[in-house]
Amino acid sequence: MSTAVCPGSFDPITLGHLDVVRRGAALFDEVVVAVASNSAKQPLLDVDERVELAARAVADLPNVRVAPVTGLLVDFCRDAGADVLLKGLRGGSDLDAELPMALMNRHLTGVETVFLPAGRTVLHIASSLVKDVARHGGEIDDLVPPGVGDAVRAALAARGGTRP
Ligand code: PNS
Repeated sequence: MSTAVCPGSFDPITLGHLDVVRRGAALFDEVVVAVASNSAKQPLLDVDERVELAARAVADLPNVRVAPVTGLLVDFCRDAGADVLLKGLRGGSDLDAELPMALMNRHLTGVETVFLPAGRTVLHIASSLVKDVARHGGEIDDLVPPGVGDAVRAALAARGGTRP
């Protein structure tokens, strides 16, 4: 059985992430979406909410599950029985960031990283941009799975409002 782990901060999950997961689900027997809870980034949404939103977004994909990951990703892959990491690439700057991680992960345990080119319709979508648009009161519901926009707006409001 082939299992791929699709890791990320998913803060929040976007239609770009979902595109990669969907296409991965057609390539592998099982895809595990691994939501990093020890990200160096300061997340807007706590890990439980990121896991919950991701789980709702992939609910129609029977061979996809979502789990939080703490510690090294390669250890998570070993525990999940996965020998492949799955990542999307939107362009050169993504590759610059991803290549060292892919090489390090392969160095650590031999796990390979498979990159899927982002779909044309979601190429412009990044969690950081989604949060920035929302922070300034812009519309994000067509960039994220259902329910995610409300969660982002609520988290921003709890932090003192959607505008600077
Ligand atoms: O969505 P992101 O923030 O780009 O995802 C980065 C992530 C979570 C994949 C990366 O930070 C990670 O792998 N974290 C787990 C800790 C780890 O294994 N670090 C060594 C990676 S080479």
